[in-house]
Amino acid sequence: MARHLITSALPYINGVKHLGNLVGSMLPADVSARFFRAAGHEVLAICATDEHGTPAELAAAAEGMSVADYCDRYHDVQRRLGEQFLLSWDWFGRTSRPQNHELTNHLASRLKAEGFLEIRATEQVYSIADQRFLPDRYVIGTCPNCGYERARGDQCENCGKQLDPTDLIDARSAISGSSALEVRESNHVFLRQSLLSERIRAWVDAQVEWPQLTRSIAYKWLDEGLRDRGITRDLTWGIPVDPVEFPEVAGKVWYVWFDAPIGYIAATKEWADADPSGGRDWQRWWRLDRGADDVRYTEFMGKDNVPFHTLSFPGTLLGSGEPWKLVDQLKSFNWLTYYGGKFSTSEGRGVFMDQALDLLPADCWRWFLMSNAPENDDANFTWDLVGEAVNKDLVATLGNFVNRTTTQISRHFGDAVPDTGEPAEPEFEFVARVRSALSAYLDHMERLEFRKATAALRAVWSEGNTYLEQREPWRAIKTDRDAAAVTLRTAVGFARLVASASSPYLPETADRIAQMLPDDRLDAPLSPELADSILEVSGGTRFVAPGLLFGKLDDEQLAAWTERFAGAG
Ligand code: 2FM
Ligand code: ZN
Repeated sequence: MARHLITSALPYINGVKHLGNLVGSMLPADVSARFFRAAGHEVLAICATDEHGTPAELAAAAEGMSVADYCDRYHDVQRRLGEQFLLSWDWFGRTSRPQNHELTNHLASRLKAEGFLEIRATEQVYSIADQRFLPDRYVIGTCPNCGYERARGDQCENCGKQLDPTDLIDARSAISGSSALEVRESNHVFLRQSLLSERIRAWVDAQVEWPQLTRSIAYKWLDEGLRDRGITRDLTWGIPVDPVEFPEVAGKVWYVWFDAPIGYIAATKEWADADPSGGRDWQRWWRLDRGADDVRYTEFMGKDNVPFHTLSFPGTLLGSGEPWKLVDQLKSFNWLTYYGGKFSTSEGRGVFMDQALDLLPADCWRWFLMSNAPENDDANFTWDLVGEAVNKDLVATLGNFVNRTTTQISRHFGDAVPDTGEPAEPEFEFVARVRSALSAYLDHMERLEFRKATAALRAVWSEGNTYLEQREPWRAIKTDRDAAAVTLRTAVGFARLVASASSPYLPETADRIAQMLPDDRLDAPLSPELADSILEVSGGTRFVAPGLLFGKLDDEQLAAWTERFAGAG
């Protein structure tokens, strides 16, 4: 049994996330968490809302709310939506919690003690019209790297380059649009990444298991040379710097990208603090000197987050001089596009988490998204693909198998698993084929290869249909009732196994299938050997037909959704 710590990039608090956000972090994290639990491992799955920085301030202002009230509201919205998508977090925390305030200031003071921080007088953009400094996203302008005209002051979303607001050409205020900006001096804390760069590189070099996308991004930044980064901001919303430790910047807050990843640890502390019995030990997951050395830590995120998780955050932890657990596996994703373009909140293009659940059950979305995940390349959302995932995979393959099996049993054997007949060569061969298909599926799951894993799971489902078509219990029942009985008993055993194997992707459906045998659920860990359980269902066991698992999507429905979500542009 291994111990898996799993985190997904913390979603910004600003509003409901779209399906592209979901498939690039929270959903694959959940699929993996469920998989490792089903395989019998100890899992801690942590997420939280990322509540600081300018996105939160701008969104709150747009809704006429205080930032604190806005964050309370959207934390609840995001938690509810996550739960409705069946994300099985052990804890869904908030970066605005005291645990994060404390830990962020603690790590800052450690970095200072180790000589990795420096106060520098910087030139900041000040808006005369707005009477305030304009950090990060409050400044927009032309990217000096690629010429994109709406680049933000922290990062160009076109070319991905990390920027400082003063790098922008033709800069203007995102609040008032005013270009009456001037540069004023302001003290800030800098993280001396240049001094940490050799240690970070040595650590990255050792991460031989990282997928290609993750490695290539990390080396791109390392090879360009790590720049020292300002990690405080002239904002009021955020984690205030400790004025005793950092008097030169008293009244300022830590940069959101400094405190957000620390939020993974702080949210684990929230989880521990929430247990009145004191039985939850957060250090066992995060401190190498407190038992975390046998933890396997996997992070999930979109590719824009990779530099922060391969360089800055590890730099913070390495530079602290304390024995923190660093990430082992970092699974990153490309973009899910919507008909080749971006999902866009402002233009209403694409599908958002709340809308999605009004259209289809969570399991359908989970399957569609993961089987079309932007894993090795960008992936394109189309309603035809949604239709295919639902109609071909869920209805015609999985649903059809379960439906045929349960209809035959209910019709000919009532509410008990058929108990006559003996398994013979066809059943043994079936079990062997399932074992090998299952083994391929589990291998891909271990390696976090989701597209391959979903294809392999589909192949497992297909084995059931192939077996039924070979044995034709609907025909056998007329001449050889024992033969039909053994086929259907085997099919029920297979359905029970399929429930367990499919549960990472289809938790609700898996539960409905498993309920077929309410007194004999499979709780052994997922492994290829579990294929033997197919022949271990006892005749006479109480059997309850689960009803139709999935509804077919027709062309008119898909056409209506295509039109509805086409967006203004
Ligand atoms: O890109 C984003 O959505 C960020 N909120 C991710 C933060 S991940 C972690 F560092 F908190
Ligand atoms: Zn650019």
